[in-house]
Amino acid sequence: MLGPQGSGKGTQAELLAKKLNIPNISIGQLLRNEIEKKTETGKQAQKYMNKGQLVSNSIAHKLAKNRITQPDCENGFIFDGFPRILIQAKFIETVTNITHVILVDISDEEAIDRLTGRRTCPKCGKIYHIKFNAPKKEGICDKCAEKLEIREDDTEQAIRKRLKIYHAETEEVVEYYKEKNILIEINGEQSIEKVKQDIFSSVIPAKAGIHSCL
Ligand code: AP5
Ligand code: MG
Repeated sequence: MLGPQGSGKGTQAELLAKKLNIPNISIGQLLRNEIEKKTETGKQAQKYMNKGQLVSNSIAHKLAKNRITQPDCENGFIFDGFPRILIQAKFIETVTNITHVILVDISDEEAIDRLTGRRTCPKCGKIYHIKFNAPKKEGICDKCAEKLEIREDDTEQAIRKRLKIYHAETEEVVEYYKEKNILIEINGEQSIEKVKQDIFSSVIPAKAGIHSCL
């Protein structure tokens, strides 16, 4: 799942993973877990993440490879936000076979608007939005009753930096997969439900009866 910051990669990856019953792997979330646990990897990653920069390839590669070689990934998995640069795309080909690449696209203006309203659960990682995807009880996670937080990299300065890197580096990855004919382009500037329907109908074969279930 690729797309600019705030496009809904995390939101949609969670919905699709649930539908397909496969794990959703967000390198960003794995890194936030490492920071929370105060590991060496977390300490190294934190200074880059808070500034909106990418962490080193060695860290990203190690986390990605370790996670997808776990038994629960045997029947497939979703990567949310990986690979982000060509080196990572080439690396992951040596470990696994990427079959579908979903690009959820939005404008930079929309990204900045959305991220200022995002709230996340520090415990389970569930994503909310104060207006578009609010929790049942204000400020509290529906799943684990934890107090919701604003991500440290959701400052306007860090968001602009992340978007700059996306345009400079990740768009190259998008082109790479387009040339390989495995890119599925989705308009992310629609409701969460409509984006979900577009993704499901592009990824899941119609004969599975998915259209009638939506
Ligand atoms: P990561 O955690 O992946 O952050 P990101 O790429 O900046 O993307 P976001 O999580 O901000 O956006 P999203 O598209 O997931 O949007 P969301 O669904 O939350 O990475 C964080 C950092 O980790 C990176 O900056 C980097 O430092 C490091 N990192 C990660 N991967 C790396 C890699 N491969 N290599 C090196 N470093 C790496 O939605 C946003 C908000 O909008 C939410 O509030 C949501 O509720 C709302 N929303 C979603 N969809 C809609 C909709 N359709 N309409 C209205 N609101 C919506
Ligand atoms: Mg995300």
